Amino acid sequence: MKIGILTGGGDCPGLNAAIRAVVRKGISVYGDQVIGILEGWRGLLREGMTEELNIDRLSGILHMGGTILKSSRTNPFKEKNGPQKIQENVDRFGLEGLVVVGGEDTLGVAYRLFRDYQVKVVGVPKTIDNDLPGTDYTFGFDTAVNIATEAIDRLHTTAESHNRVIVVEVMGRHAGWIAVEAGLAGGADMVLIPEHPFDIGEVCNAIRKRHKRGRDFSIVVVAEGAKMPEGTEGEGYIAQEREVDAFGHIRLGGIGHVLAREIKKRTGFQTRVTILGYLQRGGTPTAFDRILATRFGIAAIDLIHQDGFGQMVSLRGNRVVPVDLEVVTKRIKTVDEDLYHTAEVFFG
Ligand code: F6P
Repeated sequence: MKIGILTGGGDCPGLNAAIRAVVRKGISVYGDQVIGILEGWRGLLREGMTEELNIDRLSGILHMGGTILKSSRTNPFKEKNGPQKIQENVDRFGLEGLVVVGGEDTLGVAYRLFRDYQVKVVGVPKTIDNDLPGTDYTFGFDTAVNIATEAIDRLHTTAESHNRVIVVEVMGRHAGWIAVEAGLAGGADMVLIPEHPFDIGEVCNAIRKRHKRGRDFSIVVVAEGAKMPEGTEGEGYIAQEREVDAFGHIRLGGIGHVLAREIKKRTGFQTRVTILGYLQRGGTPTAFDRILATRFGIAAIDLIHQDGFGQMVSLRGNRVVPVDLEVVTKRIKTVDEDLYHTAEVFFG
């Protein structure tokens, strides 16, 4: 078969491992020809943004971060005749199946193209945010958690030396998975996530209580999408830019500074901020993410050959199973309440 593959949305560690798995099994087991589409959906809106992938091209990419196919947040449904152009290019390139590696936005487009334009897609879930419904884990998340945990470990020693409160801002605009898991692993004294709007007074009380117990430093982990309750001063998200992307998302970031300013003002403790930002997305994937991405890639090419179009590969327990791609249009997967309550035991 002639198969296309693209990576869309924010990049994450493990994308190259997934590409490698699709191409290796496609060529060596099924005798496929695999065409890489460059820059996500943008590459299918234009002619000539393709590259034939062979086994040599994939050599040495397993441990590499980013994506050799590049990525974009292009939304074909926001472009004039976008879906029709995609349909035409799929035909022009002779693609009999398309592996789409993405998060909720990229896979949401894949689902609509399958449902309304008969494009033969199979989805592979990725995102450092781990907020995609239908799968227990997305690849990229484990690496982000490990990077954030290491940062928290390092910040602990400097916070302790200077009797400071350090606020660590991590990614996660609608779900606080990275914050909760890295907070748990790194022993954070407070974790603030979008799912639980926080009261700044209570945050300060918890820090004061801790300092009264003789602990002169604190680590507060905050997800970029964490917010204060409606009707309170500072309610809502802290947006970095007014501009929204092609999927309607405002770029977030900066809640850490607001929080640190308030903590300092209300408690008098010296407070500093570290925003981890894109460090969480760059660089080499963990072994867990390499393996998960590889398993997903293998399952995706198998699904193509089983006529499993309109489905996404997913992790359920320890098994990789297909689910209907429609699942990505459902409510995002927010942090498990039990997990949050476990982290909460260590607050203050
Ligand atoms: O979805 C992954 C993610 O890294 C989010 O955690 C973050 O809010 C967003 O992407 C940043 O997007 P961009 O790469 O467009 O700045």
